[in-house]
Amino acid sequence: MKALVLSGGSGTRLRPITHTSPKQLVPVANKPVLYYVLEDIAGAGITDVGIVVGETADEIQDAVGDGSKFGLQVTYLPQQAPLGLAHAVLIAREYLGDDDFVMYLGDNFVVGGITELVDEFRAERPDARILLTRVPDPTAFGVAELDAEGRVRGLEEKPEQPKSDLALVGVYLFTPAVHEAVRAIKPSWRGELEITHALQWLIDHRRDVRSTVIHGYWKDTGNVADMLEVNRTVLEGIEARVEGSVDADSEVIGRVRIDAGARVLGSRIVGPAVIGAGTVIVNSYVGPYSSIADNCRIEDTEIEFSIVLNDAHLNGVRRVRASLVGRSVTVSPAPRVPSSNRLVLGDHSEVQIAS
Ligand code: DAU
Repeated sequence: MKALVLSGGSGTRLRPITHTSPKQLVPVANKPVLYYVLEDIAGAGITDVGIVVGETADEIQDAVGDGSKFGLQVTYLPQQAPLGLAHAVLIAREYLGDDDFVMYLGDNFVVGGITELVDEFRAERPDARILLTRVPDPTAFGVAELDAEGRVRGLEEKPEQPKSDLALVGVYLFTPAVHEAVRAIKPSWRGELEITHALQWLIDHRRDVRSTVIHGYWKDTGNVADMLEVNRTVLEGIEARVEGSVDADSEVIGRVRIDAGARVLGSRIVGPAVIGAGTVIVNSYVGPYSSIADNCRIEDTEIEFSIVLNDAHLNGVRRVRASLVGRSVTVSPAPRVPSSNRLVLGDHSEVQIAS
């Protein structure tokens, strides 16, 4: 069995933090979403992975390399334009050969991995198996309609009037039967070859398409609250490990991971939290559910339940909560007189100032 990971796309800059990097590299607990995808695949015992790449191919290749750090053999499959998920299957035809495969969208996060699903698929081998999850706003997803026995009756892509609240999760299990389907379908109104249409084609041709409803799913929609929530979920499961240095005036409580080269000076860190390599925390409080990435400097600051990306500097900020701080951001106190705020904010920034 092989895996096909979709990390192409137009590179459309999504808010809030994918202005400057591909959405598959959005970090959760200091690790890109795409790494969790690749770890899930390796965990399911699959070693051959084709990664579909587009405009952001260089950044994806820099982050993943040849796949050996995940125990995988990665082949990059360039897609000339984001012409749809089924188009990605079409261009991967030669790579996939006649193997079964799991298709995993590189911006999706499935809590608990996919090992059980892959094992079940290997044992049962229906023509295809899709994953579904209940969502509050199905209009942003592919939506499935099931019959009374739970079989997939129909699928619609981003319907205005969804027939259920069951959204398609970006993990699909296929036998080679899908190749005939992706060749048979035509582009949708948005000009894409939709995988939902290929699945519908299989259903219409009486092929066996089954579904599994899962819990614990996230994808990058640019929604900060959701991102903080998935970060919290992942931090719940981390192991305490201090590889950086903590001075005698500091206190580290609970499950905290401090990566090599990080320094904690005169500070209190309360887990679960992760502190990235090369980051310096001075005279500060870092509270539960915080992910501070690499090479940051946090000084005279109180922060909790927040995500801080690489190279950010926070100095004299009390108190930061439920926040997302982008790469190379600087937050510092204004001089007391005259009393004013000086702001240099990028497009679409959102700031709430204590008054
Ligand atoms: O995330 C789940 C949803 O993914 C499903 O509910 C939908 O049915 C499915 O169509 C898809 O919807 P999106 O509109 O969210 O897909 P998006 O364009 O964000 O692409 C998903 C991933 O696939 C992303 O990592 C980029 C990559 N991609 C996308 C296209 C269209 C490619 O590599 N090539 C492509 O041509």
